[in-house]
Formats: sequence, structure tokens, C-alpha cells
Amino acid sequence: MAQAVEVRGFTFGYTDTGAVLTDITLSIEHGEKVALIGPNGAGKSTLLLAMSVFIQGSGTILIDGIEATRKNAKEVRSVIGSVLQNPDEQLFMPTLFEDVAFGPMNMGLSRQEVVARSMRAIATVGLAGMEDRPPHHLSAGQKRAAAVATILSMSPKIITMDEPDTSLDPRSRNNLIALLASLEQTFIIATCSMEFAAALCSRAILIDGGRVIADGPAALVMSDAELMRAHGLETPAAFRDRSPNH
Ligand SMILES: Nc1ncnc2c1ncn2[C@@H]1O[C@H](COP(=O)(O)OP(=O)(O)OP(=O)(O)O)[C@@H](O)[C@H]1O
Ligand SMILES: [Mg+2]
Repeated sequence: MAQAVEVRGFTFGYTDTGAVLTDITLSIEHGEKVALIGPNGAGKSTLLLAMSVFIQGSGTILIDGIEATRKNAKEVRSVIGSVLQNPDEQLFMPTLFEDVAFGPMNMGLSRQEVVARSMRAIATVGLAGMEDRPPHHLSAGQKRAAAVATILSMSPKIITMDEPDTSLDPRSRNNLIALLASLEQTFIIATCSMEFAAALCSRAILIDGGRVIADGPAALVMSDAELMRAHGLETPAAFRDRSPNH
């Protein structure tokens, strides 16, 4: 079986920047929950955008064996769903229900199935009863939850999430962690919250300056206080007592 994600020698720069990702090579197996950690501007969001073919660079990215090229964009996006860093980019329909139903509707499912999936996804993220609300009237945390629901309703094999814990209160954050932990899909989660990464992910990939700096068991990578500090990060409390530098 193909790896969930295989990135080989991927390099990319925006039109007005030099390379913001340089020679990225990594592979992620099906079912893994991977934290993509790194300081602001490291290239986390850019790497996630490349996986869903929102940008294209040199080198190769395979998503469940399918090459992430513009020609294959539709097929790639049927396998990988991405929760974007800014929920306003993900919510554009008049009501929450329509936003969450948008993906399943484009999958050619029956009306009944679309409704069932959408209602389930909305309830799962704790927004039951808000189906008819305009998404732009939701609070920041509710918008974040809504953006997650727009992807869950499609149940893609692989899900990327860009800072999904931003704006969430502790209860909502814990609910999201419990929800994601219970799902069998592959998750790649970009986050600046080491606590969130530690609570959910068994593997951490640290990127900085557009390069992979470390890749391994989350406890090992994140308990290295010196490594974390060198890249503007902190060892989360859960791993602090394991730190050799403590
Ligand atoms: N649309 C864009 N056009 C030009 N440069 C961009 C664009 N988006 C990001 N960049 C630049 O690319 C680099 C990587 O940005 P990216 O958003 O991938 O970082 P990040 O690790 O997700 O950071 P953050 O933690 O702040 O979300 C940064 O230097 C940023 O300024
Ligand atoms: Mg980002």
C-alpha cells in the first residue's frame, strides 16, 4: 500500500520570496497522527498547502500514491482534506449547514446521505442547533469548529489541520483532542501549541527556515529542551520531566 504522504526533495518559493521550503523529504504512514511544529514563518502552512495542491513546487509529493499536481488536484483532494489556518477562507455559504454539506454534495452522494453526514459532523464539533446560522456570525472558536466540520463531513482518508486549536477555550480544545484521537484517519497537524501536539500526536516533525530539522517520536523531539529553544519553541509540560536538560 502507498504511504499516506510521501514528500521527496520538495522545494518551493512564493513569487516574491526566495525558497520558503527547501528539499523537504518525509513520509507518513496511514493512521499516523503527526504534529508539524516550528516557529512562525517556518513553512508549516506552506507545506500543508502543497499537500493539497494549493501550491506547486519542484520535487515530488505523493498523496496515497497520487502525485500532487494540478492535473490530479481533484483526485488528490478526494483523499486529503485540509482545515485551513484562517476559517474565513473555508466558510463561504449562507448557512453553517450549507458549508458543511458543500463537500459531501460535490461527492455525488444522495441527499439523505449528505444531510446525515453534515448533521453528524456539526454535532461532532459541538455546533448542533446552529445549522441555520450564517458562518460569519459565529464566534472565532465556533468558526474554527465549523471549519473542522466542513472537512469531517467528507471523511477523507487524510486530514491536514493548520493551527486547529487557535481560539478554542480549554473545553473545546480538549473535546477536539478527544475527537481527533478517536478517529482512525491520518492527521497532519501544524501547531504552535506544543501542549496540543503532545496531547494528540505520537510523532513530531520540526521545521524551521523551510527545512526539516527533526523528525521522530513526539516525546523524543519535544523533550529536547535545547533543540526546542534553538527553534523558538518550548518543551510542553507533559514531556518536561523527561528532558535531559532539566
Ligand atoms: N502568500 C504568500 N506570499 C508570499 N510569502 C508568503 C506567503 N505565505 C507565506 N509566505 C512566507 O513564507 C514563509 C513561510 O510561511 P508559512 O505561512 O508557511 O509559515 P508557518 O510556519 O505556517 O508560520 P505561522 O506559525 O506563523 O503560521 C514566511 O516567511 C512567509 O512570510
Ligand atoms: Mg501557518
